[in-house]
Amino acid sequence: MHIDTATFESVRTPIYHYDIQLLRKTLAALDAARHGEANIHYHYAVKANARPELLRIISGAGLGADCVSGGEVSAAIAAGFPREEISFAGVGKADWEIDLALRERIGCFNVESLPELEVINERAAALGMTAPVCLRINPDVDAHTHEKITTGRSENKFGIPVEDTVEAVRIAAGMANVRYRGLHFHIGSNVLNMDEFIPLCGRINELQRLLEAEGLPTAEIINVGGGLGVSYEEPDAYPVPDFDGYVDVYRQHLELRPGQQLYFEPGRSVVAQCGTLISRVLYVKPVRRRNFLILDAGFTELIRPAFYNAYHKIENLSSKEAEETYDVVGPICESSDVFQTDVRLPGGHRGDFIALRTAGAYGETMASGYNLRPLPDAILS
Ligand code: LLP
Repeated sequence: MHIDTATFESVRTPIYHYDIQLLRKTLAALDAARHGEANIHYHYAVKANARPELLRIISGAGLGADCVSGGEVSAAIAAGFPREEISFAGVGKADWEIDLALRERIGCFNVESLPELEVINERAAALGMTAPVCLRINPDVDAHTHEKITTGRSENKFGIPVEDTVEAVRIAAGMANVRYRGLHFHIGSNVLNMDEFIPLCGRINELQRLLEAEGLPTAEIINVGGGLGVSYEEPDAYPVPDFDGYVDVYRQHLELRPGQQLYFEPGRSVVAQCGTLISRVLYVKPVRRRNFLILDAGFTELIRPAFYNAYHKIENLSSKEAEETYDVVGPICESSDVFQTDVRLPGGHRGDFIALRTAGAYGETMASGYNLRPLPDAILS
């Protein structure tokens, strides 16, 4: 992390800081993991961080975009992602969003249900167009991650049930205003054990054999979603995720057909480590045997600890005093506005700069204006 606290002296906190050098290094490692194989495509999951400056760097590195709303499709186009490398997923696409994506001629809709497929076919017909689609299949594979970020089990709302795959492909392939392009999967997020992706590969292999046996068209695209995790505990030891190991699992276990394109949708692994939420200590408040370190940042800027019990490493950038134990909390009028309890930190004072690390993914994009707080700004360096 390249942070000089002097950068923040004159700015209002809380504010996000993005380390552009680290982002570029991460993108280079991601590219290297392709081993130059032209059938491997990365579609960055815009939901992780949609700051326009970052999107431009990511599109400039040759990635496509995975979007989940009309707003994200527009942001991706504005940031220079090639339209044919933009996909649009999401369980509830509104008609206006479908029309927008059709008019913009994006590369692929990731369709999550048969009723949605029918609506896309109808909207495309009304516009005199053909909609390119992948079918998002819920593979019923458990990613063994946090229950709120697991997506590929049959009880989750995402995708077409795996047992309906044959019927769905038959319907899609027969529709007049739909061009069937392939299959899409995503089992969950922040997965650190690469072996968790092996059952997904097995499921895809089974499905490909089943579809072939039924005489259905071979998928042009196999999209395996995102999900690669990062080290929240040791951001300095692991600034760049193990993209090589990640892509290799699929190389080894997925049986691609000749000419098949393999899409990945990394979000967190691209942007998490380059982002830090910078905050100032407002007050140090001793209450009985507790010491509250009250920050000017709260869950309005970083909701992950309150929402998922997520751990973000906390550092005092201003103090070199002996360590004390603190409950680090925000200013929001909610008891859940706690970043972490019982943290050992150098003695803190009003005005100290506090860093909340690994906040580049699902930090700024999940910010809210609750309590009429302004949305956070950012500094890139
Ligand atoms: N593709 C699909 C279809 C997804 O649903 C997601 C994330 C991704 C790709 C990107 O996954 P990633 O590489 O970032 O794991 N707000 C939560 C994470 C929600 C993830 C939702 N889907 C968090 O802060 O942990």
